[in-house]
Amino acid sequence: MKVEPLLVELPRFLDARGNLSFVEQLNHIPFEIKRTYWIYDVPGGESRGGHAYRKNQEFIVALSGAFDVIVDDGQNKKKFTLNRSYYGLYVPAGLWRTMENFSTNSLALEFGSEHYCKEDYIRDYEQFKTLKSNGEI
Ligand code: TYD
Repeated sequence: MKVEPLLVELPRFLDARGNLSFVEQLNHIPFEIKRTYWIYDVPGGESRGGHAYRKNQEFIVALSGAFDVIVDDGQNKKKFTLNRSYYGLYVPAGLWRTMENFSTNSLALEFGSEHYCKEDYIRDYEQFKTLKSNGEI
């Protein structure tokens, strides 16, 4: 399993009738997709998703608008600004990630490697740091 976040440029078919992009599992997305969800109607400037997953890997696309994804391994933080629908961000499990600075009318599409599971979430940052430094995630 990969441990670094990775910004992936997706295929683009430019066309005067409107452009087209796509993603495929086990190709652009390095896992089998078990779940897809989207975040919408976010008030401009709002933040979401300050948590880590034990198992779930994710792939995030800004289908519309823009937002920042901050990925933190417990020691270093990386900020990825997603503002084009032909880029996706792969986020491995075991990293703390936050989504910030949503533009008005932005639409975040997320693919997950696991079904929704409450127990997969780590929502406490200090617990995350402890699990990380003990090598438990
Ligand atoms: P949550 O992951 O807590 O959102 P965020 O971290 O972005 O603030 O999800 C919000 C609510 O939606 C939570 O009560 C659980 C529910 N939910 C599901 O039932 N299935 C899902 O696939 C997701 C992502 C969330």
